[in-house]
Amino acid sequence: MAHHITKAVIPAAGLGTRFLPATKAMPKEMLPVVDKPAIQYVVEEAVAAGLHDVLMVTGRNKYALENHFDRVYELEATLERKGDHARLQKVHESTNIADIHYFRQGDPHGLGHAVLQARMHVGEEPFAVLLGDDLIDERDPLLQRMITEQGKRNASIVALLEVEPDQIHLYGAAEFEPTDDPDVVRITGLVEKPSVESAPSNLAVIGRYVLRPEVFQVLEHTDPGMGGEIQLTDALQQMTSAEWTGGVYGLIFRGRRYDTGDKIDYIKAIVQLASERDDLGPELRPWLRQFVASMH
Ligand code: G1P
Repeated sequence: MAHHITKAVIPAAGLGTRFLPATKAMPKEMLPVVDKPAIQYVVEEAVAAGLHDVLMVTGRNKYALENHFDRVYELEATLERKGDHARLQKVHESTNIADIHYFRQGDPHGLGHAVLQARMHVGEEPFAVLLGDDLIDERDPLLQRMITEQGKRNASIVALLEVEPDQIHLYGAAEFEPTDDPDVVRITGLVEKPSVESAPSNLAVIGRYVLRPEVFQVLEHTDPGMGGEIQLTDALQQMTSAEWTGGVYGLIFRGRRYDTGDKIDYIKAIVQLASERDDLGPELRPWLRQFVASMH
């Protein structure tokens, strides 16, 4: 029976060491992408796909996340007194956005372990997992299509992106068979962060998953893999050949995706998004052209 999917799980317990010292006292999910914390884009994406129940799996140092999605009376009162409704609206946007729950993962043992923490909250329904390092352009909806595909195939669905072969070592890589839909493949194997020589393809798993709840049973028995961590990729690999789990399909994403997981991609994402915005682009674009021309 197809379930109506309502729940999103967002793992947010990473230490963000690539952004030190910025992330010494602040979670990496709160780093602004232009003027909004990265995590807000992700929550907005879940809500846009109809997922109003969000569970964040957090860790130490994550109070700022909870505060961001809560009310902030002093600021609201000040803006109200000033009659600054536009900014007040910005403050409210992240307060009323979704029904957000938090689970604090005591010992972070990897992405698979983080997802396993969601078991009690999710129960026996399919659910989505969104990783905060990947931002999907709202003009190219992906999650909604994955949810539709999940309902149609009653399988688990991962998002795939074609990457340059020399980049595949940064991702889970898929071995696959085509289906009658050119955007959908049946996954026959998954390898976490393979070398370019051993990668089964250059189709990379990006951080969007719509999973059947059987993943929890599999994760429970998944041994630590790469880096000594319980890998979601390893659990999904087992599910590709376990019929009782419904199997795994991949939806190939051909839209715009921004990686905010490392410094250079984070900077690129900000420049790209800001230069396309109506309020910033007209001033930023000519400056960028001039700046680039002045570089040798
Ligand atoms: C995680 C997953 C990996 C996936 C990637 C997508 O890795 O383990 O399979 O390809 O997210 O962003 P991470 O980037 O957290 O190391």
